[in-house]
Amino acid sequence: MKMTRRLFCAGLASAPFARPAFAQEIPLLTAMDTTVQLAPASYPATPVWSYDGTIPGPVIRAAQGSRLERRLVNALKVPTSIHWHGIRIDNAMDGVAGLTQDAVPPDESFDYAFDLPDAGTYWYHAHTNSMEQVARGLSGALIIEEATPPDVDRDEVLMIDDWLLDPDTGLFIDDFAAPMTRSHGGQIGNLVGVNGSYDYRLSARQNERLRLRLINSANAQIFGLKLEGLTGWAVALDGMPLAAPEPVTDTLLLAPAQRMDLIVDVTAEEGETAGLLFAAADDTWRALAEVSVKGRAASVPRGAPQPLPRNPRMEVVGVEAAPVLDMPLQGGAMRGLESATFDGQRLGWQELVQHGQFWALAGQVGLGETPFATLSRGETARIRMSNDTIFPHAMHLHGMHFRVRKEDGGLGPLRDTVLIMPNETREIAFVADNPGKWLLHCHMLGHAASGMTNWIIVS
Ligand code: C2O
Ligand code: CU
Repeated sequence: MKMTRRLFCAGLASAPFARPAFAQEIPLLTAMDTTVQLAPASYPATPVWSYDGTIPGPVIRAAQGSRLERRLVNALKVPTSIHWHGIRIDNAMDGVAGLTQDAVPPDESFDYAFDLPDAGTYWYHAHTNSMEQVARGLSGALIIEEATPPDVDRDEVLMIDDWLLDPDTGLFIDDFAAPMTRSHGGQIGNLVGVNGSYDYRLSARQNERLRLRLINSANAQIFGLKLEGLTGWAVALDGMPLAAPEPVTDTLLLAPAQRMDLIVDVTAEEGETAGLLFAAADDTWRALAEVSVKGRAASVPRGAPQPLPRNPRMEVVGVEAAPVLDMPLQGGAMRGLESATFDGQRLGWQELVQHGQFWALAGQVGLGETPFATLSRGETARIRMSNDTIFPHAMHLHGMHFRVRKEDGGLGPLRDTVLIMPNETREIAFVADNPGKWLLHCHMLGHAASGMTNWIIVS
């Protein structure tokens, strides 16, 4: 024993350059081709694009206040980049190819390193040709843990996705740029699953308390969700804690990119099946995640949970005095557009369609030379989005969370993605305290790729 130890020490001492402790290698996250069984076993497996070979990519967990470092290694045959959705991030790390960085070419890498000011449920996904890359599988959960976690027995991430598969070949029906889907509601899958599995199952004990972190990583599908055999409270939206837990009494709506943290007590009897259900296209409720109840954790459920600890900087102040910027959401099938600006030119509907563009935000199709708004750092901003189309849109602001103004002028919870139904108007208010160039776009990714992407500058 002593001998071994001495040899070991001697070996170290003779190393020519001992690596200092701080020069640790940065952990890798590899974007790569792989094949995964998405459909039931009687169907062929599906070639996908993945992070580290799994669908979804690995769950990344880190402590609030720490720094996250990942080296994106691009082993795909196409350029890519990673966006850390919902993080109040340093702009240079936001991952938007063409705005905050160049896309990473095949066989090259890019080091992401940033601080994590807020706890909560976030996700990461490709932000280069996202419409195709996210659909092919490039996404994963990003969980930032509170210093004092809530009192639950278990913490489960449920990443909800859909896939559009050809059942005969197992291949994605990969006409990602199809005008038909892009000008309508976007690409909706024919198979829905959780954590890469169409029949995701958990088991739990009666009266066990779970934290469920729901993430909608689908390209365009809005999920209607319902609890069965579970008594739940919503405790956070888009990562940000709610001031008070809200009992789940009704159908929950989760738009693309949105997250919801639930605390649920398993109230079904032992031997019964509980779970999370979704409203399928044929109007039936289907299991999304089945929970089989075995054994008992306690004789009675625990009652309403405490709110999650607040994140820093959750206040949006000075809203009344802030000017309102109007951003109508325009275009799409059936309504179209009279004309809009694309690539510096005013084009009519037919010309836009020829360019594969169907949507506009305030008359602008895709990223223009000038941002939609130039804000000074610390300023409070209000953007009023009126949906003049016949489709719903899930509008996402990068870099900062916002509050949605309620009818009575009050402010709703902090979010980073707001669902706006046809003919609806939603006004968002936020403190522009994160400097940089930030996207404001629809998270129905086919819409984003065909016009519904704009940007703001905070300087
Ligand atoms: Cu989650 Cu610009 O996106
Ligand atoms: Cu949209």
